[in-house]
Amino acid sequence: MADRPDLRTAVRSAVAEAAWYHTAVFYQVYLRSFADGNGDGVGDLAGLRARLQYLRELGVDAIWLNPWYCSPMADGGYDVADYRDIDPVFGTLADAESVIAEAHAHQLKVIIDMVPNHCSNQHRWFRAALAAGPGSPERARFWFRPGRGESGVQPPNDWPSKFGGPAWTRVIEQDGAPGEWYLHLYATEQPDLNWENREVRAEFEGILRFWLDRGVDGFRIDVAEALVKDPALPDVATRAEGSGMPWEDQDGLHDIYRDWRRLIDSYPGDRLFVGEFWLRPVTRLQPYLSSDQLHMAFNFDYLSAPWDPARLRTVIDATLSTVGAAASWVLSNHDVTRHLTRYGRADTSHDWRRDPSTVDLELGTRRARAAALLSLALPGSVYLYQGEELGLWEVDDIPDELIADPLWERTGHLVRGRDGCRVPLPWQAGAPGFGFGPPGAAPPWLPQPAGWRDLAADAQAGVPDSMLELYRAALRIRRSRRLTVADSLAWLDAGAGVLAFSRSGFSCVLNTSGRLARIPPCEEVLLASGPLVEDMLPPDTACWLSAKPSP
Ligand code: NOJ
Repeated sequence: MADRPDLRTAVRSAVAEAAWYHTAVFYQVYLRSFADGNGDGVGDLAGLRARLQYLRELGVDAIWLNPWYCSPMADGGYDVADYRDIDPVFGTLADAESVIAEAHAHQLKVIIDMVPNHCSNQHRWFRAALAAGPGSPERARFWFRPGRGESGVQPPNDWPSKFGGPAWTRVIEQDGAPGEWYLHLYATEQPDLNWENREVRAEFEGILRFWLDRGVDGFRIDVAEALVKDPALPDVATRAEGSGMPWEDQDGLHDIYRDWRRLIDSYPGDRLFVGEFWLRPVTRLQPYLSSDQLHMAFNFDYLSAPWDPARLRTVIDATLSTVGAAASWVLSNHDVTRHLTRYGRADTSHDWRRDPSTVDLELGTRRARAAALLSLALPGSVYLYQGEELGLWEVDDIPDELIADPLWERTGHLVRGRDGCRVPLPWQAGAPGFGFGPPGAAPPWLPQPAGWRDLAADAQAGVPDSMLELYRAALRIRRSRRLTVADSLAWLDAGAGVLAFSRSGFSCVLNTSGRLARIPPCEEVLLASGPLVEDMLPPDTACWLSAKPSP
């Protein structure tokens, strides 16, 4: 395969502006499942503080924390009741300030989740809107509309909630009669805010400042594509062929992000916004990633790609040529099936609604190890999801009565939802709850599989071929080989089913074929995701080589 001069240029041109986050490894902390400090069975800030050293030793550069705000937890904290305070289940505002300071002392940057598309139905604004009635300025902060049909019994339009059922709920007015409907793209408890409303914009600028003043290094923007709606709220069934959804990717979004960029740029240090846009292909992210808007966005095209070299290469090329230095590589998060499980299935692409099917965990583990080396070798930032460094799999057998994800109820028990990737981490093989909490703690809020005993962090530490030591080694080499420099990438021809590329004195080879693959000439094999066989790379294995082989 020939080198691609256009690709080299695209990536290099952005290097001039490279900031720490362009090459950083972020570690996603899903707080309620990370570590329990107070023994109530739910992860919290005290638990995180106690594990900052672990994260430092792992070798990541930054942590991203899922929402920690006051919340009734109808959607794991993505239903925020107070954006300026911490939910008591996680700790206090003072604890949050300590986490920020202590993370910084461990050389870890801190990114927090911002949830601007919707708040909780317990937020003071929504309660005021219910009390104030139709036509009030309080209701104008949300999307309240009269229903259709006789007496307004039908929702105002046909939009579906992403969690199942309609995206509208009818309220009971102060006089006790059914009244207007309000829009919620997610659960009933998550009313959408109206970003046409000046007060909404001003409020979020205040919230961003509140946290920037407390030292956070940036924000992950939840549902970044959906803040602005087509104000006509048109039905989707009758929209013109080829036109997008009226709640996604609307022009008005750019102005919001330009305002936010000006705001964050007024603070010292390189702070960032990373957008959660479920827009695919990756090229659709590009309009948001200019120097006056967002710094980066999650690469869900990469996360969704099956274990197929051509598809992976297409996504990598498209990413580097369109978003360049803002490239990110993501395989898992708190919303999707853990990639180790995905890679062990017959269909390895990402699909939320896939029923649990037969999984070959051994194969999935081999591929997950190889995929870690691929992601960590690519130019750009990498987002790791807690537990992937331990080789955790998706838990498919959570008892029905323990399922917390609103998807379960809203789909009439058709979709089990995302709890399977949110099971509390195993820290100590020999302790109850695998050391998720302190001695004597309540059991973890979701049960851990017995098989996770061998995956506990303390069972893997120091074991050379463990997943944890593979991640540690890869992160160490990534730093020491200066792989943190956002340089160019050149594809190498290493045979069918083999993905190989080089970057300044270093190359990565991934064998997805079913047979042994020749390793290109090199000075040294720096790291391999599995044992080599007579100097050949086995199937579903990747390695890192020093010295650039000839193309
Ligand atoms: C995306 C978040 O990652 C997910 O967990 C949440 O349910 C939705 N946005 C709604 O906030």
